Parts: sequence; structure tokens; C-alpha cells
Amino acid sequence: MGGASGRGGETITGAVVPPISLSTTFKYQAPGQLLAVTGFVYSRDGNPARNGFESAVAALEGCTHGVAFASGSAAIAMVIMTLPKGSHVISVSDVYGGTFETLTKISPNMGYSATFITSAMTHATKLIWLESPINPTMKLVDIAAVAAQAIRVNLDVLVGADNTFLSPTSSAHSLGAEVVVHSATKYLNGHSDVSPLVELVIYPGLASHLQHELDKRQRTVFGGMIAFRIKGDLATATAFFQHLKTVTIAESLGVVESLAELPATMTHGNLPVDDRIKLGITDNLIRVSVSVEDAEDIIQDVLQALEKAGEGQ
Ligand SMILES: Cc1ncc(COP(=O)(O)O)c(C=O)c1O
Repeated sequence: MGGASGRGGETITGAVVPPISLSTTFKYQAPGQLLAVTGFVYSRDGNPARNGFESAVAALEGCTHGVAFASGSAAIAMVIMTLPKGSHVISVSDVYGGTFETLTKISPNMGYSATFITSAMTHATKLIWLESPINPTMKLVDIAAVAAQAIRVNLDVLVGADNTFLSPTSSAHSLGAEVVVHSATKYLNGHSDVSPLVELVIYPGLASHLQHELDKRQRTVFGGMIAFRIKGDLATATAFFQHLKTVTIAESLGVVESLAELPATMTHGNLPVDDRIKLGITDNLIRVSVSVEDAEDIIQDVLQALEKAGEGQ
């Protein structure tokens, strides 16, 4: 990080690995006169290490500006809060659970309204919020097509995308999203014949995925996020998790450990059951964030957990 593109050495000392700047405040030359070299005042406004991170992520997306927040959810809330009061938001339906809560429970108090997926745009629609692939069903959205159509209907509308599942392999900005959010605790901070017990594997990188061709167009490499339906019910799915040894049961994704979660009771447990089932988030849907352990270790772990879960049926 450091420098305009976030790479190539820190500009003040030339350090190849830029130092982490811990100072909360910065010295003035004289009252009202900033130090000419840096122009920094107070870390909440700007900080050398954070600026480097912001320009690195902006460069990754091909955007002109990047802004870092304490969390991805804070960034998404801020995108919504930049809209004029009374704005309407259209979001993909099976959006990340935290975003769903922000749109349905918090932003209505501030005068914003939201509808999900098939809604028509109105004159008050100021934001279309996308995720692709959608968490955890791995359905894809054609970002370029949505962006082109949105601008045709309403020049005022902002197309925003949560690109957490694709970072850093593909730029949602280059496909037409004007604002792009990455939750930085996922891929960005990384270092860096399933048995008959599986009913369905949902992975856009497989030719069997209905939107495989779109995935090939939208990203440069296939990602590490995969979902599958275990043959059985909630009890079978729960048993699968109890037998995992290498893969950790946890929410989140894109970290150095492979993680598995049961969206029905974890990330998407807050959705009303009927809505959840309609979206395809069934009790037997399992989401895995495949990481950097030896591939054979991960495969063996998943296979033995599947077998043991199957024995209990
Ligand atoms: C797709 C997606 N977007 C956004 C977030 C929110 O990010 P954060 O946990 O940094 O608030 C998450 C968190 O799991 C996520 O999975």
C-alpha cells in the first residue's frame, strides 16, 4: 500500500512495507497551518496507513476513491445514508442478513424504504443494491445488465454492489456498479465426486450451475465459496457439522481457515421461515468457505463428516 495506486513503496520514507500509523492526531506547523508534507490532522479524517489501504482497494476495483469503515455493515449503512431522505431502495432478495436488517429495521426509521428484487423502479428509487453471487444460494446477478437497464430508466439511480464474495478476483465497478463495498474481514484480509449424501452442489464454477456462463463473463477466476444441500433434514445437517475436524463451524468467509455454516440457523436465521424457504435457504443448505489448507485434507474431512452424518439417518 502507499502511493496513488496503493503499491510501490510508502512516499514519505520509501518503505516498501508501509508502516502502520498509530497516531490519532498530527502536528501542525503553526495554528491553522498544517505540515506541508502530510496534510494529516486527525486519524478519523485521514491516516497514512488507512489512506494506503483505501487507495489499494480503489485500485483493485478500478474506482477513483476508496473509503474504509470499521466494518462492511457500517459501509453499507453509510451508502444508504448518503441517499436523500425518503429514498426507495431496491435490493436483491436474498441479500446478506445484516444488510436485510439494516434495510428493514434501521433505515425505515430514517425515512428510507426498501423492497426486494422484482419491484419496479419508482421516481423515489435512488439505490439498487446487488450481491453476486448471492449469499448463500450462489445465484448470480448480471451486474452489467442491471446497471445498463437502471440508467436507461432513471439517470438518478445509483447501482451499488456488495462484492465481498468476489474480492479480490473481480471488479463490480468495471461491470457498472458505481459504489462497491467489500467486507474486509473476508477475502481482503487473507494472507497472502461428492458422495450420494449430497443432493445438490451449488457452485457457479461448475458447468451444471444455471448461470455458469455469466460467472465466466463476470470474474477472472472461480471463487472459494460453495454451497450444497445435504440429503436429509436439519438433524442430518447438524450431524454433519458435529463431525467436521479440519473445517471450522463459523460464519464469515474468505479467511485462512476453511469455514462451514448452516445458513438456516446461523447467518440467515433471522429471516422469516417462509421467506427463507422461498429463497432456497432450506434447512439442509450448507455453505463452505474453502481456504488454503491442503485440498485433500478438506475433501477427506467433508467426506468423513458426510458419511458419519449419513450413518445416523
Ligand atoms: C456478503 C457480506 N457482505 C457484508 C458483510 C458485512 O461485513 P462486516 O461483518 O464487516 O460488517 C458480510 C458479513 O458476513 C457478508 O457476508
